[in-house]
Amino acid sequence: MTATSWTRKHIISLEDFSIEEYNTVLTTASSFKDVLQSRTKKVPALQGQVVANMFFEPSTRTRSSFELAAKRLSADILNFAPSTSSLTKGETILDTAKTYLAMGANIMVIRHSQSGVPLNIALEMDRLQSGVSIFNGGDGLHQHPSQGLLDLFTICSSLESKNPQISLLKDKKIAIVGDILHSRVARSNINSLLASGAQVHLASSPTLLPSLFADIVEDKYKDRLFLHWHLKPALENADFVMTLRLQKERMTDYLLPSLREYHQLFGITLDRLQWCKPEVKVLHPGPVNRGVEISSELMDDPNYSLISDQVTNGVAVRMALLYLIGNSK
Ligand code: NCD
Repeated sequence: MTATSWTRKHIISLEDFSIEEYNTVLTTASSFKDVLQSRTKKVPALQGQVVANMFFEPSTRTRSSFELAAKRLSADILNFAPSTSSLTKGETILDTAKTYLAMGANIMVIRHSQSGVPLNIALEMDRLQSGVSIFNGGDGLHQHPSQGLLDLFTICSSLESKNPQISLLKDKKIAIVGDILHSRVARSNINSLLASGAQVHLASSPTLLPSLFADIVEDKYKDRLFLHWHLKPALENADFVMTLRLQKERMTDYLLPSLREYHQLFGITLDRLQWCKPEVKVLHPGPVNRGVEISSELMDDPNYSLISDQVTNGVAVRMALLYLIGNSK
C-alpha cells in the first residue's frame, strides 16, 4: 500500500490495522519528518481543508501536536475548549460536532473521557453522508491510535532512522510497565507491537494488571503476550521499556498502597535498566509523574530516554495521519 491507495477514512482504533497500513504510516511520517527539518517546514497538502480539534478532556501534547501538524499541512484549524463552549449551556456532543460540520470541517479530532464517543460521532457522520473523517484523539480506557503510531515510529526509527518499517520489531522484547488497566495508550501499543511480531511483556501490580487483561488480544497473539506481577522478569533482556503514568484521576478504588511503595516495586530507574539489554531505550507517553513511574534522572538521560523524540515525532506522525485520511479514497 502507498499513500495514494490509502482507504481508511476514520482512525478510531489500531485493533484492525494491517501491516501495510502500519508501514504506509511509518514511510509517510518519515517524509514529513524531513519536511519538518527543512527551512519552510510547511506543505500545501491540506490547503482549504478544515481540521476541528475537539478535546473534551485535558491535554497538552496531543492537542498541540495535532494543531501544529494541521498547520504544517496548511489546513485551517478550529480549536474547541469545553469550558468556554455551548456544552456548558446543555448542547450535546453530537450537536457540537454537527455545528463544526455546518462550518465545513473535513476532519474532527475527538478526545473524550468516555470510551466510544469518537466511534459514535463517526457513525453519525457516515449516516449523514457528510464525508467527514473522525480521528480518535484518545477515548476513555479504549484506544489512543496516534500515540500508538508515534510510539511505533519512534521505536522503529531508533533502530533504522532512514527506513522505519514494522518488521524491524520482529522478536524484540518490549516491556510495558505501569497503570495498564487505565491506559488507552497501552491498549493501542499492545495492538501495534503484537502485529509487528514483537514479544510484549506487561508488568504491574495485580490491581493495575488483572489476569483477564490477556483476553483483550486475539488468540493468534496469545503466545507473544506475557503478564508479570514483578518487574524483573519483564525487564530482563528487554530491548525497549514503555512506562505509563499512574492515572490518579481514573482510580475510583484504593488500587495502590502508596506512590512510594509503587515506585519501589515498579518504578523504572537507571539501576533497574541493568536487567535489560545494554542498548535498551525507554519511552513514556507523558505527562510524567517524576519519581513515581520513572526516576527523574532516567527521564532526562539522553542515552536511554526517547521521551522527547516521542514528542518531536508526534508532529510528523500526525501530519502523516491527517494527510492520509484527508486524501483517502
Ligand atoms: C496519555 C493519554 O492522555 O492517554 N497521554 C497522551 O496523550 N500523551 C497518557 C496519560 O494521560 O497518561
